[in-house]
Amino acid sequence: MISIGVDTKQRAYDVLIGSGSVKDFGRLISEVKKPCKVMIVTDDIVNGLYADKVTEAIEKSGFTVSRFVFENGERSKNITTYANILERLAQEHFTRTDLIVALGGGVVGDVSGFAAATYLRGIDFVQLPTTLLAVVDSSVGGKTGIDLIAGKNLAGAFWQPVRVICDTDFLSTLPDERKADGIAEIIKYGVICSKPLFDIFASGRFEEKLDECIAECVKIKSDVVSRDEFDTGERRLLNLGHTFGHAIEKASGMTITHGYAVAIGTVIAAKTAENIGISCPCSQDIIDALKKYGLPVSCDYNKETIINYALTDKKRTGVDIALILPEKIGKCIIYPIPIEKLNDIVKL
Ligand SMILES: NC(=O)c1ccc[n+]([C@@H]2O[C@H](COP(=O)([O-])OP(=O)(O)OC[C@H]3O[C@@H](n4cnc5c(N)ncnc54)[C@H](O)[C@@H]3O)[C@@H](O)[C@H]2O)c1
Ligand SMILES: [Zn+2]
Repeated sequence: MISIGVDTKQRAYDVLIGSGSVKDFGRLISEVKKPCKVMIVTDDIVNGLYADKVTEAIEKSGFTVSRFVFENGERSKNITTYANILERLAQEHFTRTDLIVALGGGVVGDVSGFAAATYLRGIDFVQLPTTLLAVVDSSVGGKTGIDLIAGKNLAGAFWQPVRVICDTDFLSTLPDERKADGIAEIIKYGVICSKPLFDIFASGRFEEKLDECIAECVKIKSDVVSRDEFDTGERRLLNLGHTFGHAIEKASGMTITHGYAVAIGTVIAAKTAENIGISCPCSQDIIDALKKYGLPVSCDYNKETIINYALTDKKRTGVDIALILPEKIGKCIIYPIPIEKLNDIVKL
């Protein structure tokens, strides 16, 4: 099993990644938590696939397990699901010493993490990511939250899990499109800070190196989060492709998935960097890599629509917005610009 430490001010914890680890989930959780009540929060698809196995493994170690299941998909990452989780925790008399276990992709992790952050002003939670996107990105780093009608992730909290455990065998049931969502985030990491990682995915031959690549992404995220937990400095680089990506998700009414939107957003960032002359051209390399996995590289929305939605993004500060732009594969910069200049420089 691969173990990667994450060291934040809130707490230090490990991310454990290994094939077949589900049978050890109970023991691995009991290393960080005494037997207590556990609420497994999951979506309907993951519930059908893995929740029974996970429940059995956790109960074996003396935990009392109940379950909260909601409909899969980004549209469930909302205030109603969040409130329903809190109400169930209260009805079942969960206390501050009990535990939430998030079993699923980024949607499950984000909404249950936010419930954990706020129920009784904060209880422990464990992340059991089941999508490629969740294991390489969303389960690590403590950003939790929900979408509001006005935009993505607009309510949330920084709340670190006490442990993250991924059984990589779970990834085998992901449909190709959902796997591609995760690959979009991995290509993003490559563009931000790892040309070797980018090259592996650009070559299309990553399958035999998948566990190593997952570990490399978690290591990158862990290092960045350990230095900038609250997203005021270099952690913002990890948002490459996300200002425009979130705008595209929103414009589509959340029918374009997060990874697909990040793919398009990353291409827009690269073209924009070229447009203003800060990069050696790399947009074509990024487009070629994304296309290998059937990921989209453009969309039907016009510039005005995308910019309007982008202005609700959290990277906006007063009159400026901080764009993350690639200088070359493996190096990005934070580029704050006045909002009124966006229209001149953004290139779709
Ligand atoms: N908190 C963070 O730092 C962070 C980082 C990146 C993304 N995110 C968020 O993560 C979300 C996207 O996450 P996601 O792509 O995992 O989406 P998701 O959670 O909606 O999962 C995608 C789909 O895959 C299904 N699924 C999950 N595991 C499966 C498995 N093993 N086999 C088959 N099907 C499975 C789910 O039921 C769902 O239908 C977005 O809301 C995004 O904003 C958060
Ligand atoms: Zn993302």
